[in-house]
Amino acid sequence: MAMDCSSDIIVGRVGSESTPIYVEIISRRPIPLGTYITIPFESLNVLNGSVKKHCLVGVVSRTGYRKLIPTSPTITATSMQTIGIDDELLRYSPSVARIIADVYENGIEVASVPPPPDSHVFLAPPSVLSKMFSRRSDSSIKIGHLTSRSDVEIYVDVNALTKHLFITGTTGSGKSNTVALLADKIASLGGTVIIFDVHGEYSSLRSMYSDVYIHVIDYKLNPLKIHPRTLARMIIPEAAATIQRALTMRALGCAKLLFESVVKMYGISEEAVKILSNPSTSEVGKLLRDRDKCPSLQYDFRGYMVDDEEDMDINDRLAWLLKEYVKVLIKSSRDSNSEAVAKACSKVDEFFEYAAVSFNTPHPIELAAPSSIIIVNASMLNDDQRDYSLKIILDELLRYVRGRMIENAPNPILIFIEEAHLFLNVNRATISKTSIERVAREGRKFGLSLAIVSQRPRNIDPNTLSQIQNFIFMKLIQESDQLAIMNISDMLTEDLARSLSSMNVGEALILGEWIGRFPAYVKIERHLGKHMGSSLDIASIWRASKYRKDVSSIVTRIDTDAYSELKDLLQS
Ligand SMILES: Nc1ncnc2c1ncn2[C@@H]1O[C@H](COP(=O)(O)OP(=O)(O)O)[C@@H](O)[C@H]1O
Ligand SMILES: [Mg+2]
Repeated sequence: MAMDCSSDIIVGRVGSESTPIYVEIISRRPIPLGTYITIPFESLNVLNGSVKKHCLVGVVSRTGYRKLIPTSPTITATSMQTIGIDDELLRYSPSVARIIADVYENGIEVASVPPPPDSHVFLAPPSVLSKMFSRRSDSSIKIGHLTSRSDVEIYVDVNALTKHLFITGTTGSGKSNTVALLADKIASLGGTVIIFDVHGEYSSLRSMYSDVYIHVIDYKLNPLKIHPRTLARMIIPEAAATIQRALTMRALGCAKLLFESVVKMYGISEEAVKILSNPSTSEVGKLLRDRDKCPSLQYDFRGYMVDDEEDMDINDRLAWLLKEYVKVLIKSSRDSNSEAVAKACSKVDEFFEYAAVSFNTPHPIELAAPSSIIIVNASMLNDDQRDYSLKIILDELLRYVRGRMIENAPNPILIFIEEAHLFLNVNRATISKTSIERVAREGRKFGLSLAIVSQRPRNIDPNTLSQIQNFIFMKLIQESDQLAIMNISDMLTEDLARSLSSMNVGEALILGEWIGRFPAYVKIERHLGKHMGSSLDIASIWRASKYRKDVSSIVTRIDTDAYSELKDLLQS
């Protein structure tokens, strides 16, 4: 069956400039940006005189109007109408299409000959586009359809995600929807997906599939699962404070040993609190004494606990005890100056006052299972703690996937990092940066894939981005952002980058290995279980509360937490 390169709709003709890369199209009305066009023509092989059939496929990347007679102060449009020249006839529309391929019966090539001027330009028929974009295999998932072409479905190959993914676009352009959609579809293939959720916007995510499990971890710092060195750096970040940090690290190490063994025996329980309140008399108190590096503790915390806050739960009390232990252990070190001891102790106090600490927080890998999405809600932490947490999670993940690989039981994992400019900033040193970079470099060998999400590409460190081979570009208005992304993908030419200014919500330019060799303008599917991004209809909530109506009957589909917070505010 011969492939038809033409369609019923002629959009224009080839203009005066025609190359194998760009073709000018002349039409009466502008052709919308992102329109896929085809140009059938024949060429003559100069060497042997044979005729070759071509079907160039291009995408409109620039469009506009031009007037035949420029309007000047002396010749205005109205004055021409009064002399009988219809303005409609004096304008035309030159567009530029970027040629992306030459499609044959049995293959697709890069175009090498230009179409002759005046050739007809058609709206690309679905058969040609499907041949280019609808590559389906066991490893592909449907992500949407070509923009304004619902007849051409777009698939991406998840196997290519070992070379990571970058999703960028302004706020509200549809990034989080894309994250939810990809996560859900990959999980339904059987994948393990983690979302590092800075704002807690995925906590209410519902899967579209019955066989996908969603776990939400309200991420707090679990002192028993963080290496004392890392925790000491979190508590005392100042580079010069090496003595304070060393003291704190050793104290944390000893306290961790004790707490670990108690929690192992008694769990997070009243019993554990009781035993840790008076370690010298209890069995486990021996533990510390037995370790040569840890000093013996003769201390009784009973009665010291400030219980003016009656709602202190077991977790809070354990955290309080840990803090006191660490301070006692710091003070018990003989060989250091008292100033460092005092400073370290006050920083420990400060840390435990402000950090979200929990002994129950599981590590994401404990939940890593097929067909699951693990949402790490880091909204309770401050920026520094998020930074450390991300580092801890990534280091642990890399160790885990490597271990699984060595055991011959690989468990590939994809992790989405929202608000990535917080962690991979060009202008600011962060703790997690080196860990992200390591995953970007080494992750692919073990099946740990990164998906970096950010609305500020200009602030993202280009070194890490250079490891990324798959892209979703959504609406980007700022020129500096467009320039920044042009530097990271060879396929993103200036005209394509500029076209991002006029994208609608949910539309994306998808590039990279996972989609194949050709850039695709895609309308991404709406994820049906993701409502968090939608803006609150605050006006109707206010109106309802003014007339004392039940707010809940008016506002549906908004995040329950945000909703109840707002309700509390309005009713107090
Ligand atoms: N593909 C899409 N189709 C339809 N609507 C969308 C799509 N993507 C996003 N939206 C709408 O836009 C809003 C903002 O999207 P979101 O994904 O939160 O943007 P971002 O994460 O880039 O700020 C969503 O609540 C949704 O209403
Ligand atoms: Mg978002």
